[in-house]
Amino acid sequence: MDNARKKYIIANWKMNFTPGEASLYLNKLSNKIQPSRKLQIVLAPGMVSLQTLSLQVNRRQFKLAAQNCHWSDYGPYTGEVSLTQIRSFVDYVIIGHSERRYVFNESEKQIADKVSAAIRNGVTPILCIGETALDRKDGETNSAINSQLMNGLRQVSKEDIDKVIIAYEPVWAISSNKGAKPANPIDIIEAEQLIRKNLAKIYGKDIAEKVSILYGGSVNKDTAAGYLEIPGIDGLLVGNASLIADQFCAIVEIAKGVRNER
Ligand code: 13P
Repeated sequence: MDNARKKYIIANWKMNFTPGEASLYLNKLSNKIQPSRKLQIVLAPGMVSLQTLSLQVNRRQFKLAAQNCHWSDYGPYTGEVSLTQIRSFVDYVIIGHSERRYVFNESEKQIADKVSAAIRNGVTPILCIGETALDRKDGETNSAINSQLMNGLRQVSKEDIDKVIIAYEPVWAISSNKGAKPANPIDIIEAEQLIRKNLAKIYGKDIAEKVSILYGGSVNKDTAAGYLEIPGIDGLLVGNASLIADQFCAIVEIAKGVRNER
């Protein structure tokens, strides 16, 4: 059953690249990366580049993701962008990234509503969850993971759960945080098992096995293989290293070669 799940490498470009730079970078990646049926490569540029890249991208090679969205489809929300406005550009949307939770104070309710908006608009939500350094220090890792998972999915039905991707991103491992340090594979094994156990409690074991779980703490070409080899981990959400073509292409090549079925 495990081997029926797709593998993903997702590039989170965060607030980097102008539309022109993003377009040149996509061109560079397009020339270096061969499409693969086994691996879905997804690029998440800034909102301002989505339209340009959607006209340029070969969707058999790369899919596009938004890094955020609003929970409504239309309305008086100055400065916001809804999935109804951009769903013709993207197939995926990153929701609940720790930079949104902790820098922009997004609430669990907003995150749950965004997940719902994604499903309603036919866009695959990539729900990011992960404990902070303080949670870990206080022995609250499991409860932080569980509460973000359960709250984020509270409007997702049994019929829709296999349309959701979960990205485990321990906040203390993400390079934008002071004192960040790479996660140990054992931490990721424990988190993946906990996430699947909780999915099984709500949706049943068979359905829980269908959900893709990615690792998205700091990853680079030297650490990618170790994370991709973890059974039950279906790919990576890459930040900084996705901004450097050689790093990103190397991670993609590693992912094409790794098998980690249980
Ligand atoms: P870094 O790879 O830069 O640590 O970022 C990880 C991340 O936030 C992916 O969404």
